[in-house]
Amino acid sequence: MRLEESADAARLTPFVLQLWSRGWPDTRGEADARDHVRTLLRAGHRAWLAQDGGETVGYAMVRDNGDHLCLRHFVIDAGRRRQGLGRRFAGLLAERHGRPAMRLDVMMTDDRARAFWEALGFAPTATNMRRAETESLGC
Ligand SMILES: CC(C)(COP(=O)(O)OP(=O)(O)OC[C@H]1O[C@@H](n2cnc3c(N)ncnc32)[C@H](O)[C@@H]1OP(=O)(O)O)[C@@H](O)C(=O)NCCC(=O)NCCS
Repeated sequence: MRLEESADAARLTPFVLQLWSRGWPDTRGEADARDHVRTLLRAGHRAWLAQDGGETVGYAMVRDNGDHLCLRHFVIDAGRRRQGLGRRFAGLLAERHGRPAMRLDVMMTDDRARAFWEALGFAPTATNMRRAETESLGC
């Protein structure tokens, strides 16, 4: 696997839609995803694509917060899951940014994502409380 940095919203958007399909309101479509990506990039996040065997298999939007890496988006393509790619991708991101410490939000209802991060050594540290569904600029 190798990392490719990208600021091309059209390439990143399909992965954001995969992420949103797991629980964000379904009223948000492609144009919203594209705007969201552009907003995050303007705010200093960096987007990475995971390339494996000539295929783009994953996407992450991250921000270096100095002492840790904030994983804002992290997706492995639906057809390529449970092959160890997510584990490798997270490892490569930590290496590339020189930040072994990482943080992220996981929806409380998302048992699968939580199981994945726990398998990588992550543990819950806080309950993130919101009054309404928002997409704040996170951790
Ligand atoms: C979560 C996600 C990134 C995992 O990627 P992946 O490439 O399938 O994960 P890996 O194959 O590297 O899995 C590593 C370990 O995590 C755990 N794991 C991964 N997916 C799991 C699942 N669906 N259920 C339970 N455990 C899981 C397992 O322990 C696994 O090791 P194993 O396959 O040897 O049992 C992927 O399922 C995904 O993109 N989901 C949709 C988006 C998402 O939820 N992103 C995270 C938001 S916080």
